[in-house]
Amino acid sequence: MTSSVHTTANETGNELASEPTNQQVWNCYVPPVHFGPGTVFKASELLAEQNLQNILVVTDPGIVAQPFFAELTDSLQQQGLTFSVFSAVRGNPTSVNVSDCTSAFRQQNCDAIVTIGGGSAIDVAKAVSLTANNDHSLWDFCFFEDPDNLPAVTGSHFFVPLLIIPITAGTGSELSGSSCVITDVDTHRKRVPYHPDHFPFAVIDDPQLLAGLPQNLTAWTGMDALTHAIEAYSAPSYHPMSDGIALESIRLCARWLEKSVNNGSDLQARSEMMAASSIAAVAFSAKGLGTVHSLAHAIGALFDTHHGLANAVLLPYVLAFNRAAIEEKLTTIASLLNLPKKMALQ
Ligand SMILES: NC(=O)c1ccc[n+]([C@@H]2O[C@H](COP(=O)([O-])OP(=O)(O)OC[C@H]3O[C@@H](n4cnc5c(N)ncnc54)[C@H](O)[C@@H]3O)[C@@H](O)[C@H]2O)c1
Ligand SMILES: [Fe+2]
Repeated sequence: MTSSVHTTANETGNELASEPTNQQVWNCYVPPVHFGPGTVFKASELLAEQNLQNILVVTDPGIVAQPFFAELTDSLQQQGLTFSVFSAVRGNPTSVNVSDCTSAFRQQNCDAIVTIGGGSAIDVAKAVSLTANNDHSLWDFCFFEDPDNLPAVTGSHFFVPLLIIPITAGTGSELSGSSCVITDVDTHRKRVPYHPDHFPFAVIDDPQLLAGLPQNLTAWTGMDALTHAIEAYSAPSYHPMSDGIALESIRLCARWLEKSVNNGSDLQARSEMMAASSIAAVAFSAKGLGTVHSLAHAIGALFDTHHGLANAVLLPYVLAFNRAAIEEKLTTIASLLNLPKKMALQ
């Protein structure tokens, strides 16, 4: 989406500029999203529609033990699809996870990836989808470090087709394009490979899959979603659509995060938090994040702290540090969180 360019007049009759300033130019890209309880069973149909046959399912060991995992693989089988499972993804995934998963993809001659997991499994799947069909190193795709030297996309099979099923709410990694947060084991830094031309061909947001997410992880991942929304809204870049999305995400977190922590079987709370998490990623992908994430990535890479927990601890300190720059925005955020104005600015 790009802002329109036109000549018009303001209320005093003076002509306004006919060319947009840089500030007025913005865009937004979102892949097809299938949202709702039970939508996980659409996966096999969506793969068949794309003529994909030999699937690598990327997940982590905790997920393989969940009942919904067997239901998903059964439905792939019933559709006549061949699949294998890579479940060795760890939290705060590393470049070793990515190379092991790439080897599994190539050994099995797969033609697509389905990932069902939290941000860790999704990010490994994204990294493999960026690199397994071409000869580039993962770090060649570090767009945010060197945007002018991204590999050129050659041919229609340059990237591996990817279907994402998130089961935390969350990182929003399902709607942050191809960006993936991977620890470089050589430097102990989290780095973010990304290519602006690569997206999953579909995202399935099924809130029923979150029913068994433990209470602590529900709280930590929910705070990640809230932090995404707050940092995206606070970022100075110009993107009116994302500002609106970020504010709605904050409103949803204020209303439903605590409820989803207190009662994991509350399907409405799970559903609203899944929405809050996915849409916050649309906002941060367009506007960027802030110091909470810079620090949380460093802490996660060095100490293996859960990402959402690190964000939750850091958030109040960073907001206080940034107070002078974002005071007006903080007032809006505080009202959505039902905080007294004074408390939010202390
Ligand atoms: N790419 C992005 O846009 C983006 C954004 C934010 C964070 N991240 C990255 O995501 C990672 C964190 O992901 P996360 O917070 O989703 O945690 P995670 O993927 O590491 O999962 C944490 C644990 O929760 C368990 N789990 C997840 N869903 C479950 C469910 N529905 N039921 C039962 N158990 C479940 C998993 O088995 C795992 O043990 C970090 O590496 C972080 O840097 C990526
Ligand atoms: Fe995050």
